[in-house]
Amino acid sequence: MDTTRPTPGLRKGIVLAGGAGSRLYPLTRVASKQLQPVYDKPMIYYPLATLMMAGLRDILVISTPQDTPRFEDLLGDGSQWGIRLTYVVQPEPKGIAQAFLVGEEFLAGEGVCLILGDNVFHGRMNLDRIVAEFRHGARIFGYPVLDPERYGVVEFDADGRAVSIEEKPLRPRSRYAIPGLYLFDERVVEITRGLTPSPRGELEISDVNRAYLERGELVVEKLGRGIAWLDTGTHTSLLEASQFIGLLEARQGLKIACLEEVAYNRGFLDRAGLEATTAAMPASSYRSYLERLLKEGL
Ligand code: G1P
Repeated sequence: MDTTRPTPGLRKGIVLAGGAGSRLYPLTRVASKQLQPVYDKPMIYYPLATLMMAGLRDILVISTPQDTPRFEDLLGDGSQWGIRLTYVVQPEPKGIAQAFLVGEEFLAGEGVCLILGDNVFHGRMNLDRIVAEFRHGARIFGYPVLDPERYGVVEFDADGRAVSIEEKPLRPRSRYAIPGLYLFDERVVEITRGLTPSPRGELEISDVNRAYLERGELVVEKLGRGIAWLDTGTHTSLLEASQFIGLLEARQGLKIACLEEVAYNRGFLDRAGLEATTAAMPASSYRSYLERLLKEGL
């Protein structure tokens, strides 16, 4: 039976938090990369907040056999934020696109918004509108960087249409890196099944994107200058991400990716729910922040 059907706006999200994280050794010897702090929260809070702000409440977390129980410990079933979190193990790190295969049951024939567990976004991306209006094909983003060779790279023609996609090219055809945030319709599972692993033995997300590009069904949106897309893959970039978040939070007195606050603002939690969640926290600046918001208004 064909269980696929056209996607009525996206309802499902995946956070992929796999990988060996070996570049951050010895930090990652015991706790995986996405559990490391970015200033005052575990890294995975940031991509999770991005999905929640996009209005997604049904979210699958994919990680390694060792780390999945740790993510379950940290995040639970999501009910404290009015969302539903489920978990599935990626037995071996066989590429980002493998997420669609290990997550097939969760997707149950629907499209998905995938975010990588080490990608930090900040700024108004209108992702809630993009997710709600999404129907068909694929939608990704382009973000100018000085070192595109470290990423998937998208090239545009004179009219701003995407014409090529390459994974970590030695000679990038543009400065536009593809951030780890992707929207796909329900065909993504079939498309991934048809891929051959790359020379590094992985099902490459760039090959999925290229498959949609070749069908003429890929939309690539350039992210504006006001948006921060931060990398956390090296010790220096991890420190810089913490400094960026710390600086903004100190200046504004507002937290970035505070999941309780996001849940309240999105209407996933009512005031009583937020009060209960806050009251269950140990004394901390995080709890004080939420108490202040409850008192002064959110
Ligand atoms: C992966 C993707 C790449 C993308 C990047 C974003 O790279 O393969 O296309 O630009 O994430 O973070 P990796 O994390 O495997 O180096």
